[in-house]
Amino acid sequence: MKKIIAGNWKMYGARSMAEALCREVVGCADGLDVQVVICPPAVLLAQVSALLAGSKHVKSGGQTCHTQAEGAYTGDISAAMVKDAGATYVILGHSERRRDHFETDSAIRQAAALALQTGLIPIICVGESEDERKSGKALDVVGQQVRDCLPEAAGIHDFVLAYEPVWAIGSGATPTTDDIAAMHAHILSVASERTGKEKAAIPTLYGGSVKAANAREIMQTAGVSGVLVGGASLKADEFCRIISAAV
Ligand code: PGA
Repeated sequence: MKKIIAGNWKMYGARSMAEALCREVVGCADGLDVQVVICPPAVLLAQVSALLAGSKHVKSGGQTCHTQAEGAYTGDISAAMVKDAGATYVILGHSERRRDHFETDSAIRQAAALALQTGLIPIICVGESEDERKSGKALDVVGQQVRDCLPEAAGIHDFVLAYEPVWAIGSGATPTTDDIAAMHAHILSVASERTGKEKAAIPTLYGGSVKAANAREIMQTAGVSGVLVGGASLKADEFCRIISAAV
């Protein structure tokens, strides 16, 4: 399976920086056997998709989409709109959405089902809090999130999972590679059982404080098929070094 390197710009960026950053990322990714995904804020999605249109290995993705196909939901974005803006992927259930927008596992499952029907590939995020890790509940909590966030029909579609321990996001801290391997093995078993898909066909990314210095070791860890990168995806040099670490 090709490694997936997804960059989540979060609420950063502007039209002027999007152009330069996309050009540099395409320049470094297109010679490599990787799948890169750039997930800019919604207002930049159509522009980024257009900038990536000629790229072989770089696609765009949204950062979220709604549980409903359309309606009176001011400020929200539907799966069809994300698709219409040219995206291939959509991140769902990021811990910042769970925290700030009270997204629940069942809402994430609904949005994922709609995204799949719309022809998007959801990148479904799961991960434990620091307390849950310290109290030895991480595997149980994350396994349950995977069960609850994956639509039953997901097995007939492409989807991606992302293990992002909440305490590792933006903190500089990462789990040990043994802990990452144990979690990915667990996630793959649960996801395979839930969807009927073979483990080898379920891309499972690690996210949380990934940078050029740790990307290779993380991507060589058993069960890790790529990374979801926040802060380091906003710096072309650093993101390109992460992409190169995948091959
Ligand atoms: P980070 O964020 O790489 O800045 O830790 C990862 C994420 O939130 O997806």
